[in-house]
Amino acid sequence: MPNSTPPPLRTVDLIRKKRDGGTLDAREIGFLTAGAASESIRPEQLSAWLMAAWLRGLSLDEIRALTLAMRDSGEKFSPARLGRKAVDKHSTGGVGDKTSFLVAPLTAACGVAVPMISGRSLGHTGGTLDKLESIPGYRTALTLQEFEEVLQKCGASIVSQTPRLVPADRILYDLRDRTATVESPGLICASILSKKLAAGLDALVLDVKTGSGAFLRKHEDSEYLAALMVATAEAAGTRTVALLTDMSQPLGLAAGNWIELIEAVELLRGKRPVEGPESNEDLLELSLVLAGWMIHLGGQAATPDDGYTRAEVVLRDGSALKKFFEMITAQGGDISVFDNPVASHHAGATEVVPAWERGFVAKMDTTALGWAVQRTGAGREKPGEPVDPDAGIVFHARRGAYVEKGQPLATVYATDKGMLAEPVDILKRAILFSKTPPDAMELVGRIFTRESAEKYLRDTVR
Ligand code: URA
Repeated sequence: MPNSTPPPLRTVDLIRKKRDGGTLDAREIGFLTAGAASESIRPEQLSAWLMAAWLRGLSLDEIRALTLAMRDSGEKFSPARLGRKAVDKHSTGGVGDKTSFLVAPLTAACGVAVPMISGRSLGHTGGTLDKLESIPGYRTALTLQEFEEVLQKCGASIVSQTPRLVPADRILYDLRDRTATVESPGLICASILSKKLAAGLDALVLDVKTGSGAFLRKHEDSEYLAALMVATAEAAGTRTVALLTDMSQPLGLAAGNWIELIEAVELLRGKRPVEGPESNEDLLELSLVLAGWMIHLGGQAATPDDGYTRAEVVLRDGSALKKFFEMITAQGGDISVFDNPVASHHAGATEVVPAWERGFVAKMDTTALGWAVQRTGAGREKPGEPVDPDAGIVFHARRGAYVEKGQPLATVYATDKGMLAEPVDILKRAILFSKTPPDAMELVGRIFTRESAEKYLRDTVR
């Protein structure tokens, strides 16, 4: 009888195989992922494999195997007892992106559960958890049992990853951050989806950013990532759709922590976006579109457009705001701070930046603006650093707005006076004016569903 036991695997052989352009099978990927989660493979070996994967790329089968192995590397959440479909949204990072505070209550108010496991600010992008923690008492670190209790009660909960959920991603992401191997579509796909799939979702809506503030700077890379994530999540049994959305300027007016929450709550309170330079119509529109898809995929609307209409109703009748406040209270937060949100804002130092030219706001380098926000004290450079809840930037004119010289362009809130100069300087270099209006950008571009994502991946040579 031939011996059917496969030979034992050695990490160095798998690094060599990838380095030389080979393709690892599911067993080999599972071996590396388990070794990462248990910390039995040394960080230098994992880093070498990550760099080989970054340089050589990963096949679709490798990406699928990595996603599933990472998903299964720790504990998981099951929404089965909620008695409703569970749908989440994930966006690939941006500046001023506070849609989670709108889509979670809008969707939950329409009868779909929203178990949202979110992240923190890193680099030029903001983090949902840091924003929520600017509410006194709000707890983001819930156990899975507490997470389920909040979901039962309110229909939505926004929490941090538990230490035991997808441990392989925690180890690999930290190494990627330190070895310049973050910007790989395959590694990003596996990292994001492993966490979303570990939450046992019925469906997922992905908001993939494109434009000057996007994580991947080239439009075709964002497109590829969107198609890749849809096809990978669908192959794992989760209905998924991805929307390519504009990040060529910050979303809405505020970028920071508390100031972003205020902006979202004002919209939930029905304060409609104003016309003109201070309109934050884009934020409301994108939130309604994303919620529309979530409500549709959650079985509460026949089409995404019907979902949009349902979301508008619960916005208008105040039930979405009620849901948001219920969730905050259930997680220990003090909602009385929203009685007078401006009075609850205690920035250390403030500077109004006037427009230095007259003309149309033509171009915004949104990544640079994200760094300006980070330098106010609102963001962090390294994981674990504290953030200032009151710091950030409020923009008074958006792309396409006409401004007179001297008219307020932005207000910068910093931790202290000494921290104003750098963000103001970055801001002044990140915005360009023109004599004629710039071309309008589409807020929501291409939409990928399973069929279109699979076709795109078949037809696209990378
Ligand atoms: N966010 C993640 O969770 N993982 C990545 O790789 C990139 C962004």
